[in-house]
Amino acid sequence: MPKGFSLEQCRAVITGASSGLGAEFARQLAPKAEVLVLVARREEALEKVKLELSGTGTKVLCCVSDLATEGGRSDVIAFLAANGVNPNLLINNAGMGDYGSFASSSAEKTRTQIELNITALTMLTHALLPLLETPGGILNVSSLASTLPMPELAVYAASKAYVTSFSEALAIELAPKNITVSCVCPGPTPTNFSQTAKREDGSDTNRDGQGLLRIPPSQVVGEALKALRLGQPCVFPGLGVAIVSRVFRLMPRGIMRWVLKRRAGKE
Ligand SMILES: NC(=O)c1ccc[n+]([C@@H]2O[C@H](COP(=O)([O-])OP(=O)(O)OC[C@H]3O[C@@H](n4cnc5c(N)ncnc54)[C@H](OP(=O)(O)O)[C@@H]3O)[C@@H](O)[C@H]2O)c1
Repeated sequence: MPKGFSLEQCRAVITGASSGLGAEFARQLAPKAEVLVLVARREEALEKVKLELSGTGTKVLCCVSDLATEGGRSDVIAFLAANGVNPNLLINNAGMGDYGSFASSSAEKTRTQIELNITALTMLTHALLPLLETPGGILNVSSLASTLPMPELAVYAASKAYVTSFSEALAIELAPKNITVSCVCPGPTPTNFSQTAKREDGSDTNRDGQGLLRIPPSQVVGEALKALRLGQPCVFPGLGVAIVSRVFRLMPRGIMRWVLKRRAGKE
């Protein structure tokens, strides 16, 4: 059974590395890593992160790919083979949200969200597992939103419930293969997430109380990498998020529904 994953000289694939938490994973891993493969759609933004890491001595490769498509996911595997990278760490970080009611959501954005948050994370893990050198690590980025149903962010919260559940199961399945699986569930973190989740009509979601839970990306990533190093299956970074997540998980379902209805202004 793995007691955690050592980050020293790791060869990591980081999805969604062109901004936010993904770019921060690259920054924090760069001083230790042997190779970092940064995956996202925006080439220019990836190259900017690569440039930032140029003094660290780590080999950084940019793989431009749309992970919400099957072709894009295959391209990542082909890229690794073409560049002779034998990864031992996969960080499934790319993800997106969509603020507003489900009924008024765009079918296209909802489909992309499911493809990215669920299908890409699952199928990239599936495709990479046979290539992952051991001792290996998988770090999945879920969310505090995975702990409760969220009106006006319904598909996102459900997709992250999937990520947490999937990760916890994989952690047990892969332990005998010497692969450590951890899942990080951040609360509100200042990145491009909200910008992407907002709709063209400006629809937003109720974000009351989020300010109290907000912590910087550097702290989220630091705690996530520590959990992976120590072999903790799931971490909620920041004291506020850790407490709130515990409350959400222990709250009787009936009370939770009542609170959520009031918050949504439906009662
Ligand atoms: N920020 C928060 O409050 C918060 C809270 C909890 C969990 N999270 C989770 O944290 C993860 C990272 O998000 P973030 O907060 O860092 O937001 P972000 O700054 O918007 O970063 C999202 C990353 O995903 C990439 N991405 C989006 N669509 C993609 C696609 N189709 N194919 C490949 N890459 C794609 C983006 O790059 P390109 O646009 O270049 O493709 C970007 O690098 C997500 O899984 C999110 O759900 C965030």
